[in-house]
Amino acid sequence: MHGPEFARVAREEPDARPAAVIAGLGTCLPRTEIANAALAEHLDTNDEWIRSRTGITARRRAAPDVSMTDLACAAAAGALSSAGLATVDALVLATSTPDRPCPAAAPEIAYRIGQGAIPAFDVSAVCSGFIYATATAAGLISAGIADSVLVTAAETYSRIVDPADRSTAVLFGDGAGAVVLRCGTTREPGALLAFDLGSDGAARDFIHVPGEHEQPKGERWFTMAGRKVYLRALQQMTSSALRVMEDCSWSPESVGAFVAHQANARIIDAVANRLRVPLDAAVCEIARVGNTAAASIPLALADAADGGRLKPGARTVLTAFGGGLTWGSAALTWPTLTPVRTEI
Ligand code: UT7
Repeated sequence: MHGPEFARVAREEPDARPAAVIAGLGTCLPRTEIANAALAEHLDTNDEWIRSRTGITARRRAAPDVSMTDLACAAAAGALSSAGLATVDALVLATSTPDRPCPAAAPEIAYRIGQGAIPAFDVSAVCSGFIYATATAAGLISAGIADSVLVTAAETYSRIVDPADRSTAVLFGDGAGAVVLRCGTTREPGALLAFDLGSDGAARDFIHVPGEHEQPKGERWFTMAGRKVYLRALQQMTSSALRVMEDCSWSPESVGAFVAHQANARIIDAVANRLRVPLDAAVCEIARVGNTAAASIPLALADAADGGRLKPGARTVLTAFGGGLTWGSAALTWPTLTPVRTEI
């Protein structure tokens, strides 16, 4: 089954192919902002180190009564409203900070935002989660299983990062973003044209929260081998982004927007340089939110769209890297849409 828009364009433009198309974008951030100076009061760190090494000046922290699922519901409802839709056929959630180990949160989100009995499930790919979930949703659409899918990415890293560990506590923040995908054609702005996904389980310890069987005693905090991850992130995001650009036959200078996982401003700059995309194409919106893991790409997309840096029809490359290790990229043309943003 392919949607009515596909049928219309396919009639008018015979070379158009069916594709998942981004139709709406929503975000939700917690209201509480924690500036670098506030962390320096109880950690051996300072604003200068954090700013110069990462580009981060502040991050958001969810209030104790706000859950990952609350952030996800608000972002998902925003994406529906941005798309002008009341219902979708499926919901996929990307998170690595679930409120509970079981069950998945996606069914609860679908229920809370009034989607009835649609298929709903979680995808766990850490900071690459949004790309993995978007690829999965696009697959549901191209297989004819769904005509529209709500992709949501939500994280509460403040719940798994050790507040006493300066090497991680300064980096991460809480937040959520969501997009609606619908069935359309490759000729429409918003069309997802290529994906690349990969993983390396040999390096699973680079980004890690121990399970009970691995560490039966003591607190089980998130850890990251920062320098090793930095080097792998540079390599994998560059090669993965190049693959989707090649799939679309896009030259680097023709790329209008390059949106990488927002882990570190230095990584974003270095990957953009290696790809030789135009300097002003690289979107860096990490300063006020920090690293929000799976949520970072949709949050950056909303900032860039509102700031006029994402123009309808612009060739847009997304790329991400995270624990697993996992990485992934997507190539799309930017749609005409207005993000719907909320704070709780
Ligand atoms: O989101 C998933 C993917 N994640 C990433 O892509 C993150 C990749 N990694 C990074 O972004 C960077 O490696 C970090 C921001 C985590 C660290 O920056 P770095 O330039 O790689 O620093 P480093 O780890 O090599 O540490 C340099 C020094 C060390 O001190 P010594 O050993 O040189 O004396 C650290 O102990 O900086 C020290 N340090 C700090 N100093 C002040 C580490 N954290 C801090 C801190 N404040 N918060």
